[in-house]
Amino acid sequence: MGILNHHKKIETHATLLLVLSFLVVTIGGLVQIVPLFYLQNTIEEVQGMRPYSPLELAGREIYVREGCYVCHSQMIRPMRDEVERYGHYSLAAESMYDHPFQWGSKRTGPDLARVGGRYSDEWHVAHLRNPRDVVPESVMPPYAFLLDRPITGQYIQDLMSTYRLVGVPYTDEEIAAAPEDFVNQADAFADHTGLLERYHGAQTRNFDGQPELTEMDALIAYMQMVGTLVDFNTFVRDASR
Ligand code: HEC
Repeated sequence: MGILNHHKKIETHATLLLVLSFLVVTIGGLVQIVPLFYLQNTIEEVQGMRPYSPLELAGREIYVREGCYVCHSQMIRPMRDEVERYGHYSLAAESMYDHPFQWGSKRTGPDLARVGGRYSDEWHVAHLRNPRDVVPESVMPPYAFLLDRPITGQYIQDLMSTYRLVGVPYTDEEIAAAPEDFVNQADAFADHTGLLERYHGAQTRNFDGQPELTEMDALIAYMQMVGTLVDFNTFVRDASR
């Protein structure tokens, strides 16, 4: 009975009720919010994910510059129709090195989160040069000019340092080797040992089929990598999270 009488006191004093309610909400809020500040990471780590190689990173910059995200998402939702069309649903970890992320919000064209390996390099060159040559009904704009824009990787170290500033764990060694790795990746006959140690599974070849290294090489190197880093034959979800 005693405790009910106390409760009556609280219920009949508006100010006391207000003060005590505030106290309860404050404690509840702190219990929820404070632990988040002590978490190292809110993204599950997944084997295979690595920062992008210098050439892939340059390709990603071109993807962003050209606004490909305006028509293409990179985010496969865990729903049956999407998974059957595009492949395994996207994991948070797969965009952990994307600044800004390329999830997109509109699909005028298909989702590109798993476009890597779906087409040949030659298909990409033909498609980017003039989409209607390979898909007659396409409304995608042509990007043939990318074939005429040589790149040298002279800004790649600055770019990687900037990405490091926002949390991508590029090492000093990776940044030092970047100008060489940049050119190396598009040269089928170069020695790729160091590049492959730094960027596991990086694809190495002449992507656009031209002798010069162009923006087309970088964009296709990026496209062919997107969505391929995590091996879904061996991927197991961490059920404890
Ligand atoms: C105005 C909208 C638009 C823009 C901008 C655009 N695309 Fe597309 N894209 C499409 C459409 C529509 C299709 C489907 C028809 C086709 O294959 O051409 C498509 C298809 C594709 C495909 C084939 C995907 C598949 O699974 O079949 C790729 C790869 C692609 N686009 C890459 C790009 C890249 C890279 C850029 C930026 C340089 C870009 N797109 C910009 C509309 C766009």
